[in-house]
Amino acid sequence: MSEAKIIDGKLFAEGLRARVAADVSNLKKNHNITPGLAVVLVGDDAASQVYVKNKGEQTKACAMNSYTFRLPASASEDELLNKVDELNNDDAVHGILVQLPLPAHMNADKVINAINPAKDVDGFHVINSGLLATGQDAMVPCTPLGCLMLIKDVLGNDLSGKRALVLGRSNIVGKPMAQLLLKESCTVTIAHSRTLDLAAECARADILVAAVGRPEMVKADWVKPGACVIDVGINRIPAPEKGEGKTRLVGDVDFADVKSVAGFITPVPGGVGPMTIAVLLANTVSAAKRIHNIAS
Ligand code: GUN
Repeated sequence: MSEAKIIDGKLFAEGLRARVAADVSNLKKNHNITPGLAVVLVGDDAASQVYVKNKGEQTKACAMNSYTFRLPASASEDELLNKVDELNNDDAVHGILVQLPLPAHMNADKVINAINPAKDVDGFHVINSGLLATGQDAMVPCTPLGCLMLIKDVLGNDLSGKRALVLGRSNIVGKPMAQLLLKESCTVTIAHSRTLDLAAECARADILVAAVGRPEMVKADWVKPGACVIDVGINRIPAPEKGEGKTRLVGDVDFADVKSVAGFITPVPGGVGPMTIAVLLANTVSAAKRIHNIAS
């Protein structure tokens, strides 16, 4: 059998950002509105610092307003809630994102649910997850929406009847991914660490989305020949072959093994990763349009 087609998420994300930039330009020209995205970072988690910096740069590159707020890890939950409240009431801010994880003394659910749902560009607020779960118009979490865009780009818009397996049940990826695929009329299974015979569950899937954070867990004999495999994992592992102390990034899928069986596969890096921020920018433009009653 021929090898899988590699899904180029970096290229797709570039196209999406170009469409966002064109939308921003039209909003400015026709409505005198510049979408604004506020990102709040609490503490100094190294990975979060990088993500937040990239979000700010890409927001500005699309000619949107970017506002970044940094609070010390010692900040109280009330200080963060006050910042969220201030942003809820700021007309220049159309999207609010509180970078996760938060320090252990803060209740992330309480903070997320304090965000105005109309500005919740992460789509994590219970109102937005409820709207998505009931098939209504919602702010949809960025990573799963980006995965769906990549899946439709290779399989086409009609996914009805396909068997989809989502590996992972997080609120950020697994659960909203399952809801999105269900909305597309897929037959959806959510598998997780307690699932019996994970390999057999995976091997039935036409669409397999892996989001468990276990390096190279999905092997070729877990994958149905010709399946579309979307790898959300970003795991850093030791790479002694590159030299002492060196590391490399791998996904939750054993790419080298699985690409000989799958029909389509996302690489790590360069697959799902670049989609997340591109969708965040698209969600910010959608939020600005909804807040100002402008049709999409
Ligand atoms: N941390 C890791 N992924 C995400 C995300 O998509 N949104 C937020 N707010 N924090 C994250």
